[in-house]
Amino acid sequence: MLTVEERREIEEKLTQYPTRQAVCIDAMLIVQRHQGWVSDESLRDLSELLGLSVADMDGVATFYNLIRRKPVGRHVALICDSVSCWIMGYEQVRDHLCGRLGAPLPLTGNFRPDKEAVSLAEYERAGGYQGLRRALAMTPVEVIELVKRSNLRGRGGAGFPTGMKWSFVPMGKEAPHPKYLVANADEMEPGTFKDRALMERDPHQLIEGMIVAAYAIEADIGYIFLRGEYECSHDRLSRAIAEARASNYLGRNILGSGYSLEIHLHVSAGRYICGEETALLNALEGKRAHPRTKPPFPQVSGLWGKPTIVQNVETLCNVHHIVNKGSDWFRGLSRTEDGGTGRAAPGHAHGLWERAESGKPPGHGNHGCAG
Ligand SMILES: Cc1cc2nc3c(=O)[nH]c(=O)nc-3n(C[C@H](O)[C@H](O)[C@H](O)COP(=O)(O)O)c2cc1C
Repeated sequence: MLTVEERREIEEKLTQYPTRQAVCIDAMLIVQRHQGWVSDESLRDLSELLGLSVADMDGVATFYNLIRRKPVGRHVALICDSVSCWIMGYEQVRDHLCGRLGAPLPLTGNFRPDKEAVSLAEYERAGGYQGLRRALAMTPVEVIELVKRSNLRGRGGAGFPTGMKWSFVPMGKEAPHPKYLVANADEMEPGTFKDRALMERDPHQLIEGMIVAAYAIEADIGYIFLRGEYECSHDRLSRAIAEARASNYLGRNILGSGYSLEIHLHVSAGRYICGEETALLNALEGKRAHPRTKPPFPQVSGLWGKPTIVQNVETLCNVHHIVNKGSDWFRGLSRTEDGGTGRAAPGHAHGLWERAESGKPPGHGNHGCAG
């Protein structure tokens, strides 16, 4: 129900513009100022008041970063991460606030301020490889169902539901082997470097995510298809893979579970098209990277004709967090239907931020640790 005060403010706005549509955004911001967010009920009242359809209004609402369609806490912290604020140390302000508020930053929360890679010991101290332990205590199908319920969608561009993609992989005794899991770390999209940051600064996060994902689809071998120019990622991932193997997170009979997996780094020789998943498969097989016709889809017939899942680096980095903290927690990080946080790079000097709304394009001055 709109309050008398909200209606009065909206009526006043209506006198300032020639159309009722023009007041649509203002009206939602007025409701939000009073109620904290724009509920479905408010949207219905506003649509009646303005003579617009609920669908049109929702379309406008979900376009804008500063209109909230999900409830928020009593206080919302918006931290500016523009160039000037970055120079003045916005990262310290963010980290301090996140520490004090216990705000969730699953993907970037472990990042070291000196931009070095998180070591295995540091990663474990922060709860690393607990998601893997939990996953190994579940059946692969249970892991797939959990990821389905989390509403995790691919972060490589198309946004396909990750758990559903895994469910297309043939499972059980009759399934063809070896099965493959490929981390798509090609990242040649101009201006994009979110995956590079994840690999350079918290390489074990990708490795743990890969092991859990590989376990879920009963894969035997994992490859990281790495952009050729990413030499720092290469060095840090190589070290992390060796550390993981030495601790029996990789290799034969992982943590006594009976499950075995090897992960290999494959360095790309360049060309943007290699990022497309079927072109990537051809490149991995040592061929020219022409996309393949579909069907068959890689889930059924991928690398060397065997079942294969190709998944973006950031997508995989989310997986063990879901197993560790649950699908409800993951969905709760987002204000859209998609689960989890989202990260974006373009237009920012230091370029990296993790936000609580995976479904929206980047906005200026928001940060996901608001709460
Ligand atoms: C031309 C082209 C380039 C692509 N480049 C990448 C890329 O660099 N990294 C990536 O993860 N996905 C890229 N994709 C999307 C992949 O084909 C695929 O959908 C994705 O890796 C699947 O992972 P996801 O479900 O986790 O997003 C590209 C697609 C096209 C058509």
